[in-house]
Parts: sequence; structure tokens; C-alpha cells
Amino acid sequence: MLIKVLGSGAGGGLPQWNCNCANCSRARAFTGGITPRTQSSIAVSENGVDWVLINASPDLLAQLRAHPELQPARSLRDSGIAAVMLCDAQIDHVTGLLMLRERTSKLPLYATRPVLGDLSSTFPLIPLLGHYCGVEQHPIVPGESFRIAPLAGVRFTAIAIESAAPPYSPHRHAPVAGDNIALLIENIETGARAFYAPGLAQASDAIMAAMKSAQLVLVDGTFWTDSEMIELGLSSKRATDMGHLAQCATNGTPGMIALLDTLPSTTRKVLIHINNTNPILDPASDAHAIVREHGIEIAEDGMQLSLQVQP
Ligand code: MLT
Ligand code: MN
Ligand code: ZN
Repeated sequence: MLIKVLGSGAGGGLPQWNCNCANCSRARAFTGGITPRTQSSIAVSENGVDWVLINASPDLLAQLRAHPELQPARSLRDSGIAAVMLCDAQIDHVTGLLMLRERTSKLPLYATRPVLGDLSSTFPLIPLLGHYCGVEQHPIVPGESFRIAPLAGVRFTAIAIESAAPPYSPHRHAPVAGDNIALLIENIETGARAFYAPGLAQASDAIMAAMKSAQLVLVDGTFWTDSEMIELGLSSKRATDMGHLAQCATNGTPGMIALLDTLPSTTRKVLIHINNTNPILDPASDAHAIVREHGIEIAEDGMQLSLQVQP
């Protein structure tokens, strides 16, 4: 089973179009030692030809150009994207759906009912795509495992998590189960598992158990501290207000680093969906060094991860 990181950045990407923070300025200069990142998405495949796209980033077209292996060119019009799955209805995870409108058949879309609901009402991408390729809706039920053809050997299981519905959603301040999910992606033959949660505000017992059962954990790396955006004068919102658990502890509440420290030492731990303000993006920073000392990796676009069974 292959997992490709198409976009390792959070909403806005790196550099963000209107941002002149230290990271964005240096990423824009290319010589600043900071690697640019596109917005949040991964792709999963069994055979390297057929892929399930997990989250459809606004940067999808650039990501596909950067990954020609997602274009197997079996016919005049073709794509390696067999289906799209969504972790939530956030702008950085869904607007790429519009870029798939030229499909020659309906787009198979896997998402929870609250997410399909948001995309059929307040942000009506699904009815809109009905005027183009059309969408074949596959509701995901948290807790129930499912497969997606043609990836016969991969089992997906969604787990409802605490994060946040998008600012435009009627659920933003009245959350319902399924607004946000984490995914367990399992190679049925070997039992090897990956855990993926680009947005995670809090880890329930079920989430901790899922993370502990996985050999590879790809998890919310959005912010270094809870008040990062406030301290930079860029927002009045805390990480927790936006549905993200910061890497550092907040007022005695453990952060993502402490949480990842409780996983088995054999687990591969990778931070993903990293906001452009996060100091871990600078390889020369103390924050970067601390994360690496804890055996945690920092995702980059193009990172390819293959799942091995634990010895
Ligand atoms: C988030 O996860 O909070 C987002 O990156 C917000 C956005 O896409 O604007
Ligand atoms: Mn996001
Ligand atoms: Zn910035």
C-alpha cells in the first residue's frame, strides 16, 4: 500500500498569497531555506495506478502536475483518481472537487452525512457538480469499515473526532458527530495500518486506540502553540477554536508532542497539515529540533510512505 502526500500545508498553503510572516517571506524567496507546501491532501493506492484521493485541495491541479503517476493515460480522457474521500467540509479539503468537473463519469465521493449535507446546502458543490460530471454520493458511517473499488485490498474505517466544522457551516458552533473524521487505512493482507487526521482538537480513547494500532500516524501538525496566530497578530482565534491541537502544551493540557510520545517507539509519526506560521517549518528553529528529538517527522509535499508490517 502506498500513501503519497500531495499537500502537507494547512489552509492558505506556504507561502500564503497575502502573508508576509517569516516563513511565507522565506518560502516565497525560495533561497530562504523554507520549502513551499500546497494545501492538505493525500492519495492512497495499492497498485500505483488506481488512487483514492483523500481531501480535494484547492491546489489539486498543481499537485496532479507534480505527480504524473496519478495519470495512467489508459485512454484519451483518464485519471488515476478512482474516488475522492473527505475528512471534513473545510475549504482546503473540498474546493478541489470543482477541478474534477471534466470527468467523463460521475465522481464517486465518500464523506459523512454532515459533510455531504454542508456540500449540498451552505456550500453547494454537489448540486453544482450535477451540472458537470455529477457526484455519486457514498455516505461514510463512522465506526463502519468499507472498501473502495478498485482498491480491493485496502480497508478504510472512519472515526468521528473532535475538530471543527468550517466557519461557513451551520455546525461550526453546534457540532455534530461526523463533522470531522480520522481515517484508519489498512492493508487487509498484511494488517498494516495508517492513521490519518489532518485536523484533531482532542484525542478520545477511541482515537488513542486507533493511533496505537497503526504503524504510521499522519496527524494534525497545524500549530506549534495554541496562541500562535494571536501572538503574530494574524487572528483572534486560538488553535483549539479552529479545531487543532497545538504541538506544545497549553496551560498544563498536553499538546500533540506529548500525545505522540505515548505511542509505541516503533510507530512512524508524521505531522501533516502544517500552517505557514508554524516555526517547525524552519529546519534551523528550536521548534524543529524539539519535534525531531521526539522522533516525529514533518511532512513535505511529495513524501511517499509505504506501509510495512511490524516485525
Ligand atoms: C483549518 O483546518 O482550520 C483550515 O486550514 C482553515 C481553512 O482552510 O481556511
Ligand atoms: Mn485545514
Ligand atoms: Zn505566513
